[in-house]
Amino acid sequence: MAERDAGGVAPQSHLNAPKGVVAVVLAAGKGTRMRSNLPKVLHPLLGEPMICHVLRALRYAGIPPERTVVVVGYGGEQVARVVSSQGSYLLANQTEQLGTGHAVKYAEPLLQKLEREEPGAVQQVLILFGDGPLVRSSTLRQLLNYHLASRPLITMITTEAADPTGYGRIIRDKEGHFQQIIEEVELTPAQRPIKEINPSLYLYRAKWLWPALSRLKPSPKKGEYYLTDLPAYAIETKMENGLPSVQTLKADFEEVLGINDRVQLAEAETVLRRRILQEHMLAGVTITDPATTYISATTKIAPDTIIEPNTHLKENCVIGQNCVIGPNSILIEATIGDDCIVLASMVEHSTLENKVTVGPFSHVRPGSYLEEGVHLGNFAEVNRSHLGARVAQGHFSYIGDATLGHDVNVGAGTITANFDGKTKNKTIIGNNVFIGSDTVLRAPITVGDEASTGAGSVVTKDVQAGVTVVGIPARPIRRKSVESKEE
Ligand code: UD1
Ligand code: CA
Repeated sequence: MAERDAGGVAPQSHLNAPKGVVAVVLAAGKGTRMRSNLPKVLHPLLGEPMICHVLRALRYAGIPPERTVVVVGYGGEQVARVVSSQGSYLLANQTEQLGTGHAVKYAEPLLQKLEREEPGAVQQVLILFGDGPLVRSSTLRQLLNYHLASRPLITMITTEAADPTGYGRIIRDKEGHFQQIIEEVELTPAQRPIKEINPSLYLYRAKWLWPALSRLKPSPKKGEYYLTDLPAYAIETKMENGLPSVQTLKADFEEVLGINDRVQLAEAETVLRRRILQEHMLAGVTITDPATTYISATTKIAPDTIIEPNTHLKENCVIGQNCVIGPNSILIEATIGDDCIVLASMVEHSTLENKVTVGPFSHVRPGSYLEEGVHLGNFAEVNRSHLGARVAQGHFSYIGDATLGHDVNVGAGTITANFDGKTKNKTIIGNNVFIGSDTVLRAPITVGDEASTGAGSVVTKDVQAGVTVVGIPARPIRRKSVESKEE
């Protein structure tokens, strides 16, 4: 089972940070065009804040959190909390958002400090944006390799956009040499149709970057300090080796889609979702209907499992081989063994061992563990409970805060009355127990091995091993020691 990055792509291997490379992720903007109180970079993409996809791509490209500065500003505390949940990232606070060039300046002191503490640690600075979550780690690697081969002042990715509206355009001379980036608002009518755009993924030579940043002037129309002015400064410099000081590298538009509004958010969701589904299919997973299947970027699925239509696999699910999940199932942070079936059911923050079958219409709630061969049928609810091997809970029942041994039969309508209005109480059931239909088990309560309860009994006192209880309140009808039973 391969790990996947934002691109749904398995990293080539456990990559190490290329020496001297650090990253800066800009995430200080409000994202006005989202029309939201939530900072833009926290809007979820496949259920995960979009910045998390960017950070994962960086980690898989070999740049660890300790070498990555995230510039926060609008909703800074909220963004910092999410970022810190992903690793020990360096955080800079851009108190006023005066543009992308201005934002990078806030990362400088942290990186200068890193360079002083560890000379050579900060030679090349990868700059990317928190609102470009579709980038693959393999593309970042490609950018790094291309840059490190000849070490110009800047290597930047460009792409062709069918509709370039909103993006900075790449201006080239007649020979096709890069000249400058012009922002949408500053374009002349003649420049408007240019389809080559700036997706904002660059590598800068650190020694050149810091002084260049302080040369930035507010832009004529918006008064912002544009990071996009830097490449034009760089081409003024002639390189010792005669090579260009600014290199460009083409990437697929789909990978560098920037998210400014909720229409683009939905487009990005579609692209990422399709990419992840394709990756699973190519790795041996059958997805019956990709149009109605939703799989998080961090879910892992083993080959020969079938994901049926209208199924949602959220957060970090891990699914074994030869399973059938769905149709109509929702799994959140579920760990599923091999040969399991989850039909039209929900499993949350729980573990199913091999050969477990669930559904239709059952709910495994957080903190549950189902051992090998457990069967949950219709309308079975299991909550914070451990079910031993081959427990069968076929119909209309609730098992909460309980531990069941192996081979327990849970009759239709069984309820653990685990809540007395104040506290949640435990039910402990031994091995080979037969719980009759419509039994109420008033917790805290223990039912010994091989015991039975009659249909409709309300069990208020512990039941000894081998004993059968019946009635309301339930009383033993016959004492049978384990020895005598074996006769
Ligand atoms: C930017 C580029 C544009 C490019 C596009 C690609 C500039 C000037 N323009 O435009 O050429 O085609 O991205 O998606 O760089 N941010 C800060 N602090 C600020 C301003 C922005 O951290 O003061 C962050 C935002 O949170 C966002 C990113 O920088 O993550 C980009 O800002 P945004 O306003 O979306 O820039 P674009 O107009 O998309
Ligand atoms: Ca943007």
